[in-house]
Amino acid sequence: MQQQSDYQLNGLVALVTGAGRGLGASIAEHLAANGAAVAISDRDGDAVQQQAERLTSLGYKVHSYQHDVCNESQWQDVIGAVVANMGGYDILVNNAGIEDICLLENTSLETFKRIQDVNVNGSFLGLKHSIAAMKPGGAAGKGGSIINLSSVAGMSGFTGISSYCAAKGGVRLLTKAAARECGELGYGIRVNSVHPGFVHTEMGNNLLEGYVRLGLAESIEQSTELFKSMHPLGFGQPKDIGNLVSFLASPASAWITGSEHVIDGGWKS
Ligand SMILES: NC(=O)c1ccc[n+]([C@@H]2O[C@H](COP(=O)([O-])OP(=O)(O)OC[C@H]3O[C@@H](n4cnc5c(N)ncnc54)[C@H](O)[C@@H]3O)[C@@H](O)[C@H]2O)c1
Repeated sequence: MQQQSDYQLNGLVALVTGAGRGLGASIAEHLAANGAAVAISDRDGDAVQQQAERLTSLGYKVHSYQHDVCNESQWQDVIGAVVANMGGYDILVNNAGIEDICLLENTSLETFKRIQDVNVNGSFLGLKHSIAAMKPGGAAGKGGSIINLSSVAGMSGFTGISSYCAAKGGVRLLTKAAARECGELGYGIRVNSVHPGFVHTEMGNNLLEGYVRLGLAESIEQSTELFKSMHPLGFGQPKDIGNLVSFLASPASAWITGSEHVIDGGWKS
């Protein structure tokens, strides 16, 4: 009898945060294409509803939720709804994130805290409540795979995005600590981080504009060339990130946990 490919996600239930646009929307589509039942959430209720309609029109069965990842009770409600409505909970992609493009000396403490709140605290809350649900005896109880979106900016410093670098560095080590804890406690839950280089999304394009605003490039064309020249293979596509996340979500990556997965067209090589 032929075996099912380890890369398939058939029978698994996934939740992707910040999936109203950009990388989150693409990741959700890849997980669905590989067989997962997918729930998507975003603080922007209209955007996540539109993505749900788009994915439904492609033939996928999708649940969508308005969900601010900084709100702990909303995490509990969304995970409870996923388990109740979809019959399980196996994969979390902590994708929601924000950046701020500003020189460190001009960054307000309020802004710095807000960047940590969404990127680090949001990922922490997702980990906390998903581990509780996925671990043996939890509401879903079958273990799982959690993938946290960090960045190449979580591995080295960049001019103009110090708050974001601090936050994504936090996500990187939060991932490793969670992976070790879940592994040593025998929960059957793997936790990995993904570190993309530049991808054209609303966030990516804001970075190009921010470099012009800060006087670090003279025009959008120049900032585009500046960032493009850092990537030997050129800019990535959202589907590149979707493919990596699908692999980390699948049984094909069963022996991978606590690892940082750089996906940047050779930038950091
Ligand atoms: N685009 C890139 O070049 C790039 C590179 C490295 C890492 N990343 C990371 O990938 C992830 C996705 O980035 P993107 O480029 O698609 O960004 P984006 O700004 O295009 O989309 C982010 C989505 O997250 C949602 N969101 C923001 N704050 C939220 C909150 N508090 N609760 C719930 N949803 C919230 C937004 O509404 C939006 O739909 C982020 O974590 C980002 O830091 C992106």
